[in-house]
Amino acid sequence: MQPETERRLATEALDRIGRSALPEADAAMTVDGRRYTCTDALAAEKEALFRRHPLPLAFGCEIAAPGDYLTLDIAGVPVLLMRGDDGTVQGLLNTCRHRGARLLDGAGHVGKAFACPYHNWSYDRCGVLRAQPAGEHFPHIAVGEERLVRFPAAERDGLVWLLLDPAGALDLDAALGPLGPELAAYGLGGYRHRGSHAWTKRMNWKLGVDTFLEYYHVPILHRGSIGKTLFGTVFLYEALGRHARLVAPRRSIEDQRDGDPAGWRVLPHATIVYRLFPNAVFISQGPHVELVRFFPDPARPDTTMCRFSFASPADDRSGRDWDEMMRLALGVLDTEDFAVMEGVQANLAAGIQREIVFGRNEIGLQNFHHVRDAALAG
Ligand code: FES
Ligand SMILES: [Fe+2]
Repeated sequence: MQPETERRLATEALDRIGRSALPEADAAMTVDGRRYTCTDALAAEKEALFRRHPLPLAFGCEIAAPGDYLTLDIAGVPVLLMRGDDGTVQGLLNTCRHRGARLLDGAGHVGKAFACPYHNWSYDRCGVLRAQPAGEHFPHIAVGEERLVRFPAAERDGLVWLLLDPAGALDLDAALGPLGPELAAYGLGGYRHRGSHAWTKRMNWKLGVDTFLEYYHVPILHRGSIGKTLFGTVFLYEALGRHARLVAPRRSIEDQRDGDPAGWRVLPHATIVYRLFPNAVFISQGPHVELVRFFPDPARPDTTMCRFSFASPADDRSGRDWDEMMRLALGVLDTEDFAVMEGVQANLAAGIQREIVFGRNEIGLQNFHHVRDAALAG
């Protein structure tokens, strides 16, 4: 976040705290719960959202060195992110050119080449076929030329983006819009990956995103955890193109009220959530950052793969226990937010109560669903 934005947001936060004023939509918004349960809605989202828009997939530091890799299944498409020998991130289809076997699982590191577990065709870190046992039986396949299917992918300011269409063009400037310079100012290229966790949850992927988009629930659901440090339900909200920013000040922001406004900060005194269109949130927690992405099962609207990653400055000397901070963050998400969302999914699937409501104070939810609907409409 740029310093001038930070000063503006700190000023706005202190003003809103003083007036107990919330950002509000013009009206409440009623939606049909079938957007979370219907297979047709999921099919439309896969096509219009997940295949057509750049997806924020990882912190660059999750695959920091050449040969580091991460596999992700995105709405049924097996993706292999790998740091190539030249340091660039390769977005590859995790599918062997021979007979389609899955090449790698999870995350890890490979040497100069990696082999398919089925018949040992091996590929270099850019996905080019380098060896092929009994190659005379495949006269039309050229070692050194044949390669894994490649997706347009790019690393921008410490985040890895990928377009799930091998024939498409990745235009990150257009996709990021006003968010680009603000994300760049975080300097994520200088962060270190401290850990990740993956869950499969029985909830629609949008319910995962929804949980980050309002603070109405924080003093209630999180009263025993993060609710103690945040400032009640006060938050700031701003749409940034298709993305959005929510700022939830912590009580410590008040400590600077009597100081010079030119020096007011918000980053050390707030949880700042960026909703990254279509399926992720990037969160600044002050000393560390988190990236949470939600990938729908290809056929089941009620099943989502969630991946959480945690990073902090590589040159940090604070002595903070990052493992403990990550454990706390995972616990809140798992046992508080996602536990409620799995219940919501089951209740909507029962199909008796069709409608749910986003209040005027849930402007972040309203905006997300409006943006989603607009993208589906073309
Ligand atoms: S499927 Fe990979 S080598 Fe045969
Ligand atoms: Fe929450």
